[in-house]
Formats: sequence, structure tokens, C-alpha cells
Amino acid sequence: MTYEEIYKLLEKHGQTQLLKYYGELTEEEKRVLFSDIEKTDFSIVGNIKNKGVKKLGRLAPVGAVTKEEIKRRKRLFEEVGLGVLREGKVGAVLLAGGQGTRLGYSGPKGTFDMGLTRSLSIFGLQFENIKSVAAKAGRHFPIFVMTSTVNNDETVKFFEENNFFGYPDDRVFFYIQDLSPVCGYDGKIFLSEKNRVALAPNGNGGWYSSLIGSGLGKVIDEENIEWLNIYSVDNVLQKICDPVFIGATVMKNCRCGAKVVKKVSAEEKVGVLCTEDGKPTVVEYYEMPDEFKSMEKDGELVFGYGVILNYLFGVRELNNTLGGKLPYHLAEKAVPHIENGVKVAAKEPCGYKFETLVVDMIKLTGSCLAYEVEREKEFAPVKNATGADSVDTARELLIKNGVTL
Ligand code: UD1
Repeated sequence: MTYEEIYKLLEKHGQTQLLKYYGELTEEEKRVLFSDIEKTDFSIVGNIKNKGVKKLGRLAPVGAVTKEEIKRRKRLFEEVGLGVLREGKVGAVLLAGGQGTRLGYSGPKGTFDMGLTRSLSIFGLQFENIKSVAAKAGRHFPIFVMTSTVNNDETVKFFEENNFFGYPDDRVFFYIQDLSPVCGYDGKIFLSEKNRVALAPNGNGGWYSSLIGSGLGKVIDEENIEWLNIYSVDNVLQKICDPVFIGATVMKNCRCGAKVVKKVSAEEKVGVLCTEDGKPTVVEYYEMPDEFKSMEKDGELVFGYGVILNYLFGVRELNNTLGGKLPYHLAEKAVPHIENGVKVAAKEPCGYKFETLVVDMIKLTGSCLAYEVEREKEFAPVKNATGADSVDTARELLIKNGVTL
């Protein structure tokens, strides 16, 4: 595009500030700036108008396959699930594109060392679980690892240095999630350098479209994969491709399953699985109205099933919903950016990033099995440096589960 075309495009979207330092740039820097601008989806910033506030419909609680039922029917569920795994119909997707800001750790979260007397990375812990399932199923299912431009190289290097944690390296597929622009409260997109548009990972909702966009859809097609189990990097007790969970979802004729725990308190920072206008949905902790959060019946929270970010999705449904657009959520963020010609390292939030969330895919799939798991065995989130959901609480749970740290 020529300068005039770029200017017109920016003018149309009210973003001409991106050319503020154009006169100071070298020819190569100008080329990079234009390429950034051409790749930017300016329409995303339009979401600032409603401040990402979601108007919720009529919410109602959901029932789940309870821990008791799972215990009773474990053998059957497991047999069915192992059958599906043995046929090679399942792949796993590790969501590792997040920035781990709350943990205050600068590397990719999965490289964080949980060990005390030996090194024990989060990735390593999760692969121990994956290997045990692969051994039971007699098959190395594919693991798709979603990273972001911010942490991809370090993540890949860590896998290589650790010999893919003993998993065949040709069964691990990396891909990079897409980015979205970051702007100030006034909706003006920031420059991260005088010639670079400020961008940030676009949330975990883009996991499937980015996977397909990366070309890895061919692995899914060639291997006839029917189910994808997606899971977050930040739970060190995550059970991946759990045969019992897969079997229960299949036997209940559901095309989507979500592992849930009973919330420990109204304020626990987990999304709640419920229905909205009769359709399954997950309402995030920061969007759930207070009266629903704390509503109780017989001493229990009515909206009490929190998701642990371990979902099973039918590939067919994913393909059908790909065309459906996920809404953007706004997250306030401290964004380093260029101001008056110099780079400012913002310590306090100064603008918004725009994210799509995997929880919004639940609604698009139309049916979702809530599958209750034992918190102490399956949910040890590492979100914060100290306090709740921290390295300390996760270490305690690892020890309880017999892991030597
Ligand atoms: C997440 C879930 C919440 C759940 C909780 C359980 C979402 C949107 N929220 O909340 O419902 O109850 O975990 O602990 O799913 N990620 C990316 N790319 C991004 C952003 C995040 O890959 O752009 C990954 C992270 O690396 C991580 C996961 O998504 O593996 C969750 O990230 P985060 O945004 O921190 O979600 P939480 O607020 O912890």
C-alpha cells in the first residue's frame, strides 16, 4: 500500500496517530510499520464502545455427572474412553499462549519450576500425566501446543532441551496464536516502537481458528481426529485426555464436555458453567452478577460448578462453529508504549487489550456435559505468586498427590 492508501485507511478508523513518527523512520522501518498496519484488524477496537460488557440473558444452574456417579461407573466410562483413544480419535491442545502476568514470572508459564529438591517444570508435570495415558491407550496421541509470538521461541527451546519430556517429538505440534491491537482508554491504538503497532495475544478463544490457520488442520483430517481435549498450562494436576472423562462424554451423547469442581467460595476466581436462555454457557468470575455468585440453597452455592479449563470438543462441532464469531472482551492492561517520542514502561493499566475467550465457544456448541472432578486430585492452579491459587498452594496439592518436589 502507498502512504496515501495507508493514511486513508487510518483516517477511516480514526487511527492516524500511528503515523506520528513516520518522518523519523528509515525506509526499512517504514516498510515494517506499513506491514503491521496492513495486518491489523481495526474493527476489533470498535468493541470499546460497549466496554466489552456482556448483557447476560436468563441464567440458570446446571446439573453435572457427579463424582459419585463417576466413581460408580468408572470402569465402563474408562473402557469406552480408552477405546476412543486406541482408535486414534483424540488429540490434545495445550493452551500456553498466555503471558502469566499475575505470577510475576517472565518466562513461559510452563517452564516454571515447581521443584524444591529437583527441577520439575509445569510442562514436565503435565507430560508425566500424558505419558501415563498414552501408555494405557498404547498410542501417542498428538499434542498441539498453542504459544504466542511473545513466548514461542523460548517454549520450543525448552521442549527441545528437555527432550520433549520423553514424548515422541513428532507427536508434538507447535502453533502461534493470533494477536490483536492494544489501545489507550480513548480507543487510539498504541505504538510499541515508533514503527511498530502494539499488539497482544488475542485471548484463548482463538485456539481453534489459529490452529486451523497454522495449517495443522491437516493432521486432524489425516488422522481422522474426532475429539480435541483442550487444557490450560497453569494447572499442575491437569489430567489430559482422561479416558474416564472421554468415555462419560461419549456415553452421555454429548459433543462437548467440561471438567468442573464445586466452587470453594462465592468469590473463587473460576468461570461458572450454567445455562443462559436455556443454552449451556460459562460466565466468567468477573462478569457474574453478585446476586448469582452468592445465591445459596441448602447451604450450597446454586451457581456452584466452576470450570477448570479442561474441555473436550467434538471436531465436527468446532468446524461448524468456526463461522460463528466469538465476542471480544476488554481487559485493562499496563502496556509499554511510545509517548512523546519515548518508550514508557507502564506499571499501571493504561489501556485495553481485546480477547476472545474459549468459554464463549461452549454456547456455540449447544450442548455441554458438566463432569465433576475431585478438586484435590485435579485442580491445582498456579495463577499468583502468593496466596490463593499460587505456587505454594499448588505445591501443597502436588505433595498430597504423592509427587516428590
Ligand atoms: C481461566 C478460565 C476460567 C477458569 C480458570 C480455571 C478462560 C477464559 N478462563 O481463567 O474460566 O475457571 O481458568 O483456572 O478460559 N491463554 C492463551 N492465550 C491467551 C490468554 C490465555 O493461551 O491469549 C491460556 C493461558 O496460557 C492459560 C489459559 O489460557 O493456559 C487461561 O488463561 P487466563 O487468561 O489466565 O485465564 P484465567 O483468568 O486464569
